Amino acid sequence: MGAVSTTFMAGVELVRKGKAQPVGSLTQMGTIRLGKRTDARSPLIRKFVPLAELKDLTFGGWDIFKDNAYQSAANAGVLNPQDLEKVKPFLSTIKPMKAAFDHDFVKLIDGPNIKKGKNKYELALQIKEDIADFRKTSRASRLVTCWCGSTESFVKPEEVHSTPEKFIEAMKSNHPAIAPSMLYAWASVTSGVPFANGAPNLTVDIHKLAHDHNVAICGKDFKTGQTLMKTILAPGFKARMLGLEGWFSTNILGNRDGEVLEDPGSFKTKEESKLSVLEYILQPQLYPQLYGKMCHKVRINYYPPRGDNKEGWDNIDIFGWLSYPMQIKVDFLCRDSILAAPLVLDLVLFLDLAQRAGMRGIQEWLSFYFKSPMTAPGLYPEHDLFIQSMKLKNTLRWMKGEDLITHLGQEYYD
Ligand SMILES: NC(=O)c1ccc[n+]([C@@H]2O[C@H](COP(=O)([O-])OP(=O)(O)OC[C@H]3O[C@@H](n4cnc5c(N)ncnc54)[C@H](O)[C@@H]3O)[C@@H](O)[C@H]2O)c1
Repeated sequence: MGAVSTTFMAGVELVRKGKAQPVGSLTQMGTIRLGKRTDARSPLIRKFVPLAELKDLTFGGWDIFKDNAYQSAANAGVLNPQDLEKVKPFLSTIKPMKAAFDHDFVKLIDGPNIKKGKNKYELALQIKEDIADFRKTSRASRLVTCWCGSTESFVKPEEVHSTPEKFIEAMKSNHPAIAPSMLYAWASVTSGVPFANGAPNLTVDIHKLAHDHNVAICGKDFKTGQTLMKTILAPGFKARMLGLEGWFSTNILGNRDGEVLEDPGSFKTKEESKLSVLEYILQPQLYPQLYGKMCHKVRINYYPPRGDNKEGWDNIDIFGWLSYPMQIKVDFLCRDSILAAPLVLDLVLFLDLAQRAGMRGIQEWLSFYFKSPMTAPGLYPEHDLFIQSMKLKNTLRWMKGEDLITHLGQEYYD
């Protein structure tokens, strides 16, 4: 219940009250073209597929701090006090359940609202109880969990993550490769609740479990500021066969997320997630002359004066005809949680849709929302935002039995 999740909850309530617009949310504002361009059929996505309505959403969460959602949002400082005041009674009722926390995975923060248990398995069972209690008290007919907790230290997939049985044994023996976020993922999936992972943590790489429980999952790491820009620009360079010598990205941010990322272990998890994007989009193995020597660096600096309003600065060294060099500078003065909140909403609504449609396991069509999209083993992830968008919309068309759109368009000239 930090910056992203409280901005999401406050935003949904402001929109429900008619006091704000859900800008940045594809499920709320997006349309989808159906049939031929001459058919003029472009319904709103939320009218085309049966998504849950905002009025029916209800919220709960966990945190290591005891602050309710209003206090936490005020502390995060994303929304201004006037906006928060309008939803204060609503947010004040949302109090965090006790967290399953392990200081070894998030070194730079500590809090009092923490579960106790003999081992990690007991903590995971307590989370399952929380989920069952929330189902009862909220009277919600369906649930979705989205990890909006801190980025945890880097963990490599190990033998203990490889099967559901080994995973349970590892929780029971307090194995060091079992992170708290995995306990939430396990509890959620085994309760039949779809799970999205907004952080780069290993967390839900337990696809077999999701498959066995017929639960939809997706991740990882919300694609918001700088990486969003990267996956918009890089496909353009490649489409025009422009070369790339180097891309240097630096960030300054001052929120709690930035504080956590000061720890080298948490930063490593984030760095891996941010670095892979260009390699996959530009395919240096296919275009060695254009991208074979590219130098890609990412830096994140915790700088408290900026709060949640981060600055993502990119220096891009490209080259064109006859290898003549050029430079592009992008200075994105963005708001992290303002960019992330609508993604939480879309993921919750789409995962709920997928679950009802019987789509279990990894939902690759939701790659659109992630920096490190999860895929079936052996498949490389698709990072190009425009391919991701087409994949998402074609999946919705396919779910409803509409023709897929290939953009061929020969029929208009017959
Ligand atoms: N805002 C963005 O644009 C963006 C983009 C991509 C990914 N993310 C990721 O989303 C996550 C949330 O970002 P944020 O800005 O809201 O951070 P935040 O620090 O404001 O919130 C995270 C919250 O998680 C809590 N927490 C940590 N470990 C926990 C545990 N084991 N159980 C329960 N609560 C726990 C912390 O106390 C904190 O309140 C981070 O991992 C961040 O890296 C954010």
